[in-house]
Amino acid sequence: MADDSTTFPPPAELAANANFTKDMYDRAQADPLAFWTEQANRLSWATAPTQTLDESNPPFYKWYADGTLNAAYNCLDRHVEAGNGDRVAFYWEGDPGDTRTITYAQLTEEVCKAANALTELGVKSGDRVALYLPMIPEAVVAMLACARLGAMHVVVFAGFSADALAARINDCDCQVVITADGQYRRGKPAPLKAAVDKALEHTPGVRSTIVVQRTGEDVAMAEGRDVWWHDVVGRQSGEHKYEVFPAEHPLYVMYTSGSTGKPKGILHTTGGYLVGTSFTHWASFDLKAETDVFWTAADIGWVTGHSYLVYAPLVNGATSVMYEGTPDSPHQGRWWELIDKYKVSILYCAPTAIRTFMKWGEQVPAKYDLSSLRVLGSVGEPINPEAYLWYRHNIGHDNCPVVDTWWQTETGMHMIAPLPGIENGKPGAAMRPIPGTSIKVVNDEGHELTDDSTGYLIIDKPWPAMLRTLWGDDQRYVDTYWSRFPGKYFAGDGAKVDADGDIWLLGRVDDVMNVSGHRLSTTEIESALVGHPWVAESAVVGAADETTGQAIVAFVILRGGAADGIDADEVIQTLRTHVAQEISPIARPRQLMVVPELPKTRSGKIMRRLLRDLAENRELGDVTTLTDATVVTLIQDNMRK
Ligand code: WTA
Repeated sequence: MADDSTTFPPPAELAANANFTKDMYDRAQADPLAFWTEQANRLSWATAPTQTLDESNPPFYKWYADGTLNAAYNCLDRHVEAGNGDRVAFYWEGDPGDTRTITYAQLTEEVCKAANALTELGVKSGDRVALYLPMIPEAVVAMLACARLGAMHVVVFAGFSADALAARINDCDCQVVITADGQYRRGKPAPLKAAVDKALEHTPGVRSTIVVQRTGEDVAMAEGRDVWWHDVVGRQSGEHKYEVFPAEHPLYVMYTSGSTGKPKGILHTTGGYLVGTSFTHWASFDLKAETDVFWTAADIGWVTGHSYLVYAPLVNGATSVMYEGTPDSPHQGRWWELIDKYKVSILYCAPTAIRTFMKWGEQVPAKYDLSSLRVLGSVGEPINPEAYLWYRHNIGHDNCPVVDTWWQTETGMHMIAPLPGIENGKPGAAMRPIPGTSIKVVNDEGHELTDDSTGYLIIDKPWPAMLRTLWGDDQRYVDTYWSRFPGKYFAGDGAKVDADGDIWLLGRVDDVMNVSGHRLSTTEIESALVGHPWVAESAVVGAADETTGQAIVAFVILRGGAADGIDADEVIQTLRTHVAQEISPIARPRQLMVVPELPKTRSGKIMRRLLRDLAENRELGDVTTLTDATVVTLIQDNMRK
């Protein structure tokens, strides 16, 4: 077993040919702004920026503000113009086994057609378009078509409920929705459009929906509102003259859970985001665009899908795999089969997936030829040393560096990662800030900690791909991120710096849970629960879980008499399902307990720490602030039952 001092040096060949060298690292550390000025050359600008960072109105920072560009041109046309039109952009593999190979020239043409179709439907620069789509190529096409027009895409994970979709559409005031008739789940079609129809009963602002035909299921098409993708996009010309926009033109809004019930619309803009994501994609994974086959195994509904499935790989002219299905369909070796089939050289996935593969056993990947792999990435939650070592050994055959990337929807790009050519890997540690960024661990008073003690992760200098604000709520942006430690970005994560100066991430310190790499807020689930007529009060905590990292445990007090005569088990199942329907199946509590009381402090605050201890069967900590200690015994009695 590894201990804190185990390290793995980079494989010799990788180190010898690494994109990012020690010399570049030193230069970036010495003069971060000069470094980011240089990195702007990754993009093709219509007007090159003359100023890198505008700090005149913190925390509303601007990057490359006087530069102009088009995001889609940078992802597509310029590669075709450079003679790489025949290079594969995506090897797409559908859930039931259908496939598509899409070159840069083909993707460019598709995006132009979609941009023409959106224009015909009245979409223009600054508009918001909601996307609720499975992992099909049209999702990428739709995102880039919006970007080409300067319209913002608002991608909502297709596993979210109709209510969650409606809330996001309304918050962002989207006028157009792009969806599909259905989606495949483990080889079987499941409806998708039906949820959109339900959502649109509550979204007065939506005037059109475009429906991709994926499963061929019968769907209702509302006259005057719903059009088929193959009709409206199919009839367009493949030529589209793009406009250029300022670097700070909005690119997209992506909703994520905060510590209150209302999801936050994270706003990303164009120039800095594309510089930051394309640089980190190139440096963290040592990407060689001509020869690598890169696979981000994440859904387009999350930021990882935005930054490292769509934008960064395309800006870099890389070849990617895009997979629609689940890891165990039709068999538990599907991922390894795909790596073998497409000769994937860089795999980027979440620790929760790795832990699931560990459960299935090392004999599964052992059946496939994984020798094409050279770099392994990890994202979404802390990777525990056991999973790191299993991944490194059974998937990487001990000669691929494991690059653990810490970042957030808000940061847009990797912020902490061991750059594979120049840094050692250490199981469990995310290691060092990305060159050109500045990250520290501080105590409650904001003093820097470097002695292995636990503190808060902060970012104390602006970075190019940073969020610019929360959609429609500048004040919440300032309050949420810049107020806990004035002038510094507070990430919401606990962390420590070890004796070697390497950073370890220790999970969230706020009321945000991380379940299988998905962010969920305890408050959001609590409000879903109290929204049910049976429920008087609820408290939700994240308890440690071997596979999913954290699991949702809900404590519920029923309204007197409301569920009388209903079987206890049925009450529990009904409430769990209610949360799944209100938010998403990923929010369904692993465990739900009906309790007579909740432990509260004298000031009436629910003692979550205590509930967490209970949920994890731990020795109870300090209970002296509890109003009524018998509550805990009551809950424990109930749990035993
Ligand atoms: C957690 C996903 C430890 C962290 C890109 C962060 C991680 C939240 C790591 C953001 C990692 C992400 N090690 N923790 N490598 N990557 N996290 O916005 O708590 O979905 O704040 O972005 O996930 O989740 P989000």
